[in-house]
Amino acid sequence: MAEFTLPANSKIRANGVTHKAPASATKVKKFKVYRYDPDSGENPRYDTFEIDTDNCGPMVLDALIKMKNEQDSTLTFRRSCREGICGSCSMNMNGKNGLACTTAIEDCGKGDVRITPLPHMDVIKDLVPDFSHFYAQYQTIQPWLKTVTPPPAGKERLQSPEDREKLDGLYECILCACCSTSCPSYWWNSDKFLGPAILLQAYRWLADSRDEHTGERLDELEDPFRLYRCHTIMNCSNVCPKGLSPARAIGEIKKMMVERAV
Ligand code: SF4
Ligand code: SF4
Ligand code: FES
Repeated sequence: MAEFTLPANSKIRANGVTHKAPASATKVKKFKVYRYDPDSGENPRYDTFEIDTDNCGPMVLDALIKMKNEQDSTLTFRRSCREGICGSCSMNMNGKNGLACTTAIEDCGKGDVRITPLPHMDVIKDLVPDFSHFYAQYQTIQPWLKTVTPPPAGKERLQSPEDREKLDGLYECILCACCSTSCPSYWWNSDKFLGPAILLQAYRWLADSRDEHTGERLDELEDPFRLYRCHTIMNCSNVCPKGLSPARAIGEIKKMMVERAV
């Protein structure tokens, strides 16, 4: 499980604002939410939002939307699909990275729920981390089909059902970064180590029977930092909200490196 770790640019100011639940509330749950507005010049703080869970949807994202709609419209977070598909609502809830839209409030335990941005990323505002570096790293693995032979006339490049199956457990990745931001190696070396999400994506193309740039892709990864900073700590696989195993994919890349060397 991802340890609770402050975002990269944090110094918490303890005394935040408390937003009380209405007097008519029947089941109140407190959420301590990380607030940071770089334009204010102030340190981050935790605000407390009291939510009547009898009058709220079941997921953490429902609670956040209720806070924004009814208590503080300046509360800032990303979301889009509300179904665990887009990956935009990734954040840290009670010390564990996950998707707010697929994390049930009742699974957050009996006490208060503490919500922070993904650990060890710079924060743009409140719960919104800066993904620029993560996406730049994604770009370096050239995440598209690369071929040298011309496509068959009038047809797609076909793949056998067996070869297509090799992409299961890889293509489902929604690039939410829950895994990379729970990886201690990525915390300390994210300038050079690609991290579990990007390495899983790299393996998705290495494993694709239609791709014809396997050697070049492996050459790009053959580096003491880009790939080999993974020390098989397994946080990444424990935290993935889609049930994927980046650690296994990284192991497969390392195996390919060994196999081509013999
Ligand atoms: S492997 Fe899982 S946790 Fe990592 S980015 Fe993909 S979906 Fe998110
Ligand atoms: S297995 Fe590798 S990538 Fe995954 S958390 Fe551990 S060090 Fe990071
Ligand atoms: S809103 Fe799309 S994954 Fe949560």
